Amino acid sequence: MKDTIENTEIQSQIVDAFNFRHATKVFDDTRKISDSEFDTILEAARLSPTSFGTEPFQLLVVQSPEKRELFRDFTWGANGATNGTAGQLGTSSHYVIVLAHTGATMKAGSEYLAKHNREIKQFPEEVIEFMNGAFTKFQESDFKLETDAQIAEWSARQAYIVLGNMMTAGALMGIDSCPIEGFEMDKTEAVLRDHFGIDTAVYKPAVMVAFGYRADGPMFPKTRRAMEDIVTWA
Ligand SMILES: Cc1cc2nc3c(=O)[nH]c(=O)nc-3n(C[C@H](O)[C@H](O)[C@H](O)COP(=O)(O)O)c2cc1C
Repeated sequence: MKDTIENTEIQSQIVDAFNFRHATKVFDDTRKISDSEFDTILEAARLSPTSFGTEPFQLLVVQSPEKRELFRDFTWGANGATNGTAGQLGTSSHYVIVLAHTGATMKAGSEYLAKHNREIKQFPEEVIEFMNGAFTKFQESDFKLETDAQIAEWSARQAYIVLGNMMTAGALMGIDSCPIEGFEMDKTEAVLRDHFGIDTAVYKPAVMVAFGYRADGPMFPKTRRAMEDIVTWA
């Protein structure tokens, strides 16, 4: 498609947003994202694509400061220990834990998937049966997602699309964010079980993400490989 003036403007808005976004270490804790803007970030998550349309993720938004503190000791990527601040856990406007479904829901042939296909996707019974066959082949033969852990990893891959879309949606509105993998899995699961009533046999924490407004400029300059070192055209 030829560039139009409109497309050129959108292109620079997109690139500007990607340059604006950086992994924010400390947020201005006096500033809160408006409900309407945060709803838009959630809508970007909800409308994200997922393999087979299975939507194998849940979002837990942790707003109570006391509940956020439960994660502090072992969430080394967001507790500010490296910079002597309250970290993303203590300063962000919104703090989200992205959960990935396990084989309990996402194993081909599960009751959950049949219900999802029937009630959410509104497929007729013959399509549900066809999808079940296609998904069984995909899991068992194409991608070899045999164990519960492999299925949870596959769900987490879908969850990362959600993560990216949420951060980009935020950046387009001038909202900062930080993705967070710096946490101990076992201890996170224990807190989710003991304090949030989450069955970690069904949902595993995949990644966390904090949103808000930066307290200072980026701590590090943005560095990336050159395009020709990334892309091969064939
Ligand atoms: C999946 C994922 C997990 C990350 N985990 C953390 C984290 O725990 N704490 C943190 O401060 N930054 C974290 N980062 C931020 C990266 O270090 C950062 O994105 C990268 O260095 C590039 O810098 P930029 O995002 O500022 O351009 C994470 C990034 C991604 C994509």
